Amino acid sequence: MKIAVVGATGLVGRKIINLCEEYFESDVQYSLYASSKSAGSELTINNRNIVVQELNEKNILNFDLVLFSAGGERAQLYAKSFVDKGAFVIDNSSAFRMLDDVPLVVYGVNEEAITKSTKLISNPNCTTMGLVMSLKPLHDAFVLKSITPTSYQAVSGSGTRAVESLEKELTLSDNLLSDYSEGFYGQPVAKNVIPVAGNLLENGYSDEEMKFVNESRKILSMKNLIVEPSNARVGVKTGHGTFCSAVFENQVDVGSAINLLSQFDGVEYWSDKLATPLDAEGQNNVLVSRLRQGLSSNKILNFWVVSDNLLKGAALNAVQIAKHVSTL
Ligand SMILES: NC(=O)c1ccc[n+]([C@@H]2O[C@H](COP(=O)([O-])OP(=O)(O)OC[C@H]3O[C@@H](n4cnc5c(N)ncnc54)[C@H](OP(=O)(O)O)[C@@H]3O)[C@@H](O)[C@H]2O)c1
Repeated sequence: MKIAVVGATGLVGRKIINLCEEYFESDVQYSLYASSKSAGSELTINNRNIVVQELNEKNILNFDLVLFSAGGERAQLYAKSFVDKGAFVIDNSSAFRMLDDVPLVVYGVNEEAITKSTKLISNPNCTTMGLVMSLKPLHDAFVLKSITPTSYQAVSGSGTRAVESLEKELTLSDNLLSDYSEGFYGQPVAKNVIPVAGNLLENGYSDEEMKFVNESRKILSMKNLIVEPSNARVGVKTGHGTFCSAVFENQVDVGSAINLLSQFDGVEYWSDKLATPLDAEGQNNVLVSRLRQGLSSNKILNFWVVSDNLLKGAALNAVQIAKHVSTL
């Protein structure tokens, strides 16, 4: 089997490489792509050094699977060329997520959306993915009506440059003041909370908030799901957390909800300790805690969910899909 990792040198690409070693046989042939800046550098897979190639039209060969994590612009330019050469492409960007003929898949929730004729699959937004993992077992039992998710998003969700910027801000210690504008977000994120994640749109919501709306509906096949989203960027390196208030058609039961979450593959319910981003970092599972019944209605559940945005939010889901596709 031949696998290409596009954006191999990035935060997500490096995790994909580690997970491929775990999920696929060691005789897989890998090709690695990144920008011209990284061309010629080497990364190690299964103890073999592989030279990173520049992504351009001339370098595109035929592969069985392509895991693409190089941003929407590159995906728009090149993903279809890989497909045309016969590959299944799994893209981490938002470029194709809302296209009707492209499945948007959270492995464990809706992988049945992939068929043998599927050639291009979108990996959902990292925050939405963690949230949907926790909503799925609750929806199956109580039937979702509306959700109000408020996320606290880590800087690694914005890529390598944002992490470097956070690290620099942390070195400034008490000299980091609110008027600091040289960092990735234009205002300090270290030791801080910026009350928006993503770019603001004309409707006053950010593009990240609208991903909660549109992607949750598509993944759960609920075009009428009511979603009232808010996102913040916080001075956390890795691990997106979300408080969610979920309203259901049916009466809920906290004990049953906790059991359902605990039994759902890929989710853990933490009752003895409050799950934080630091707990989630490096974990494949999505962690849920603080589940309570609503104060105003017995059809409401309020809870906290946190997951590693680079794993179940990106690389892990992509590799799980790749493994699934390889068995079709
Ligand atoms: N970080 C997350 O939590 C997360 C979650 C879900 C989805 N995603 C998506 O995953 C993708 C990658 O994110 P990331 O966090 O890994 O970003 P990153 O750390 O900034 O890495 C970006 C990757 O894209 C490559 N790249 C940049 N320009 C390129 C070009 N012109 N041609 C070829 N390759 C190019 C980079 O190569 P060089 O090193 O050579 O520049 C690097 O390998 C993005 O689409 C992002 O939206 C990220």
